[in-house]
Amino acid sequence: MSRERIVVLDFGGQYNQLIARCIREAGVFCELLPYDSPIEKIQAGNLKGIVLTGGPDSFAAQNARVCPKEIFSLGVPVLGICYGMQAMAQLFGGQVEKASLPEFGHTDIHLVDHALFADLPQDTIVWMNHNDLVTVLPQGFISIASSANCPVAAFADDARHFYGFQFHPEVKHSIYGKQMLQNFVKNICHCACDWQMDHLAQELIQGIQKQVGDGTLVVGFSGGVDSSVATVLAHRALGDRVQCILVDHGLMRKNESQEILDYYEGELGIPIQCVYAKDRFLAKLKGITDPEQKRKVIGTEFIRVFEEEAKKIHGDYLLQGTIYPDVIESGSGQAAVIKSHHNVGGLPKDIGFKGLVEPLRMLFKDEVRALGEELGIPHHLVWRQPFPGPGLAVRILGEITEEKLMMVQESDAILREEVAKAGLDRSIWQYFTVFPDVRTVGVKGDSRSYEYLIGIRAVVSEDAMTVDVAELPYPLLKLISNRIINEVPGIGRVVYDITSKPPGTIEWE
Ligand code: XMP
Repeated sequence: MSRERIVVLDFGGQYNQLIARCIREAGVFCELLPYDSPIEKIQAGNLKGIVLTGGPDSFAAQNARVCPKEIFSLGVPVLGICYGMQAMAQLFGGQVEKASLPEFGHTDIHLVDHALFADLPQDTIVWMNHNDLVTVLPQGFISIASSANCPVAAFADDARHFYGFQFHPEVKHSIYGKQMLQNFVKNICHCACDWQMDHLAQELIQGIQKQVGDGTLVVGFSGGVDSSVATVLAHRALGDRVQCILVDHGLMRKNESQEILDYYEGELGIPIQCVYAKDRFLAKLKGITDPEQKRKVIGTEFIRVFEEEAKKIHGDYLLQGTIYPDVIESGSGQAAVIKSHHNVGGLPKDIGFKGLVEPLRMLFKDEVRALGEELGIPHHLVWRQPFPGPGLAVRILGEITEEKLMMVQESDAILREEVAKAGLDRSIWQYFTVFPDVRTVGVKGDSRSYEYLIGIRAVVSEDAMTVDVAELPYPLLKLISNRIINEVPGIGRVVYDITSKPPGTIEWE
C-alpha cells in the first residue's frame, strides 16, 4: 500500500500550517489543500482522513465558504476545527449562531471519555478563538466536550466517523492539543504512522527520476537552504545530468559565493557555473533609491542573466526550491502584499523548459532542514539564516554603491562571527547589519569625524510572519560595535534596532 496521507482542507485560518505540522510529527504525510480543491486531488493515493481548518468566515454573514459535500462520501474520517466544525454542523442540518459570549484565548474545558481524548485528563485547557458556535447538534452527533460558554466544544458522530473541535488543538496553548490530533490520526484514522524523513528522501529522489526520465535538469542555485536541499536531492537522483547556475549579483554577504562553490562544487562534486554579474547589477541599480524599484530591477536582471546562461546549457527541466509556505502564499493565502518579495528561486516558468521540478513544495522550512541533515549537508549550511533574494540591496537604504556595499558586508561579517562565537547563531532567526545612509558627527583621534551609521538587526521568530527583537547581551553588542567602528572604514556609530514585527518588518526595505 502506498504512503498514508491525511488532507487538511484550508478555509483560511491562521494556524493551518500548524495542523499539517502536528500530523506529520505523528508520522503521517499530510498535505494542506485549498478547501475547494477537486475531489480527485483530495482522494488521491492512500487517503486516511480529512481535516477541515478554521477560517475567518461566519455563517452569520453572507458568502461563508461551504464544505465540499463529496468529502463525506469518501469513507474516511473527517475532523472539523473551529470554522471547519461549524461548516460540518451546517451541512448536516445543525445550527450555527453568533455566540452571546464569544471565547478567545485560554479556556477551561471538560472532556468526555472518547477515543479522540484517550490518555488525557478530563479537565484541561484549550485555545478558543470564535464568535460563532454550534447551538443545535446535527442528527447523529453528540457533544463530547464543553466549556462554560460553549456546550458543544467538540462533537462526534462515531457511526460515520465525523468529528469537530470548536477549539484549536494545533496551537501550543491547547495543552493536550497535539495528543488530540495524534489520537485522531491513530485511533480514528487508524494510521500506521510510519512516515519518516529517510523515506521522504528516497521518495523525493525517485519522484525526480520519474519526472525527468533520461533528461537533464537546470538549477537556479542560490546557496540558500531550500535550493541547496533541492539540488542535493536532484544530484542524488540524476548525477551529472544536473547543471547549476549561480548568479552572483554582487549583493551577497562577504565571501558567500566562494563558500557556496567550495562546498557544493569542491566537496560534493556538483558542477556549478557561477556567473559573476556584479557590475551589470550595480549599473542597473545606479541612481535608484525606491525599495520596490530596486527589487524589480534585481528580479528582472536576475532572470535575464539566468536566461542567457540557461540557453547555453539546453536543459530539459528547471529545478526550483519552492517550499510549502511559498505555495500557500501564492495559492490560498489571504494575506495582503506588504513587499513584492523577489525570490531568486522564483524564475519564470515560460523560459523554454519542458517542466518545473519542485521536490520540496510540500515541506515546511524546518522539515527542509531536517531533510538537509538527513542528506548529510553540513549544519552550518542547513542552518543558514534566511537571506532575501535581492540580497544586501534591501539592507542599503538609498542608492547602492560599491562603498556602501563594502561597509555592509564587512560589518555583517563581524556581527555573524561574534554571534556564532557566542553560540547564539542557531537560536536567532536572522541577524544582520543595515545601512541607513545617514552620517553622524563623532570624535576619532581627537578630531571631528563625520561618518556613516550602521544598524544591527537581530530577531527571533518561528516563521518570519511575526518577530520579536533578539535580546543580544550588552557585552556582546558592545564588542560588536567596537569591532565595527574600529575595523570598518567609514563607520562612526552603531545602533541596535529594537522594533518587533509588526509593526516593523524584518528587513528595513
Ligand atoms: P520582511 O522584511 O518582509 O521579511 O519581514 C520576511 C522574510 O523574508 C525575507 N525577505 C525577502 N526574501 N525576497 C526574498 O526572497 C525579498 O524581496 C525579501 N524581502 C524580505 C526576509 O529576509 C525575511 O526572512
